[in-house]
Amino acid sequence: MDLFLLSTLTVILILNYCLADDDHKSWFTPPMGWLSWEHFQCNTDCSSDANNCISENLFKQMAEAMIVDGYLEAGYNRINIDDCWMEKHRDGNNALNADKNRFPNGIKHLSDFMHQRGLKLGIYEGIGKKTCMGFPGSFGHLEIDAKTFAEWDVDMVKMDGCLQPPYTLDILYKQFGHFLNATGKSILYSCSWPYYQLHYSKIIPDFAEVSQTCNLWRTYHDIKPDWGILLETIDFYGDFQEVFNRYVRPGTWNDPDMLLIGNPKLSVEESKVQMGIWAILAAPLLMSNDLRSIKPEYRKILLNKEVIAVNQDKLGIPGKRVFHNESFDIWLRELSPETRMNLPSFAFAFVNRRQTSKPQKLSVKLSDFKFDKNYIFIDLFSNAVIGEFSPSDLLSVSVPSKGIRLLKASPIY
Ligand SMILES: *[C@@H]1O[C@H](CO)[C@@H](O)[C@H](O)[C@H]1NC(C)=O
Ligand SMILES: *[C@@H]1O[C@H](CO)[C@@H](O)[C@H](O)[C@H]1NC(C)=O
Repeated sequence: MDLFLLSTLTVILILNYCLADDDHKSWFTPPMGWLSWEHFQCNTDCSSDANNCISENLFKQMAEAMIVDGYLEAGYNRINIDDCWMEKHRDGNNALNADKNRFPNGIKHLSDFMHQRGLKLGIYEGIGKKTCMGFPGSFGHLEIDAKTFAEWDVDMVKMDGCLQPPYTLDILYKQFGHFLNATGKSILYSCSWPYYQLHYSKIIPDFAEVSQTCNLWRTYHDIKPDWGILLETIDFYGDFQEVFNRYVRPGTWNDPDMLLIGNPKLSVEESKVQMGIWAILAAPLLMSNDLRSIKPEYRKILLNKEVIAVNQDKLGIPGKRVFHNESFDIWLRELSPETRMNLPSFAFAFVNRRQTSKPQKLSVKLSDFKFDKNYIFIDLFSNAVIGEFSPSDLLSVSVPSKGIRLLKASPIY
């Protein structure tokens, strides 16, 4: 091998090593990847549905699609297993095991497979006696389960909270977080703790504690590919933004649940609404879809670099809903300054909430929305330059039926 090539490869190797060593930094922007639940649920029937059952094969195929179709390059680097991966009982040492038929090589093999390809593996458990689908839960086994996940080299744990009295969750989630930390491995911790307290009891979750313990946390019901449910979820985060946003910072995120984009039950415009609002909210971008057969128009939404950049903005300040009525929402998110002048950019989103026969026109005076200088506005889904505006100008946009216009505003000097 010639010397130049050899030294170039060495530099690349060292660089890769440094990047890998700095893994924890990837926690500081919202996690991106893929999660099995919404699309594949608890399909354990590999004898008649081998291609879609929860199995080693499914996660390997998604990993290949993530790489080949550009998702990994765009930042989606996690493949996460949800419920229904386990044997129905713990083994003689009280340890969890993956279902021997569906995961014949075990979870460590699957995490090695992911790591060799630059991906990370996530796994699922429940903090009660059983998971939501009735598999062995971690209650009474928190320490051994944390150790098992660390031995398997998993990078993320989604801890659900079914069937456990909500008042016990404060202690249990903190204990499991402690045991995860004690493994010495960097494992991203996703909690459903505030969700079960908010919706299954009258307890107001201690979000300060939650955000110190967990990297991401659910507060609303499971999302489904349905416009009404998507809108309800968005409204929940808008209605309670003053409470929720306070605890979001780099490394700790509100999780409004999976991206449904790619599921044909959600139209292309509806899908853009989810992608755009998840970007504004600084939400985790965990797709649940079939990457092996996704239509190109959906794939394009998921791979939109500009929208992903809004989501991943380093400041980690979630946006706010700044206008809301039955017809429209307007959302605004402050983004990092792009230039040395140190003036922030903004993401500015207009949602048409209703089914309308034609796009609805909306005009806003920019000085009503924090714009006190001249800005240039670009549409992030069409890449079209809207133009330059001064604070006293009216900005008019026309928003598709059940759709969004997501703009980026950059200051002009
Ligand atoms: C465990 O917690 C300590 C204290 O918060 C922290 O400094 C350390 O980085 C954590 N370790 C891991 C592996 O997360
Ligand atoms: C919502 O607000 C917009 C903009 O002010 C207005 O044009 C529209 O009529 C309002 N819709 C309803 C249902 O109040």
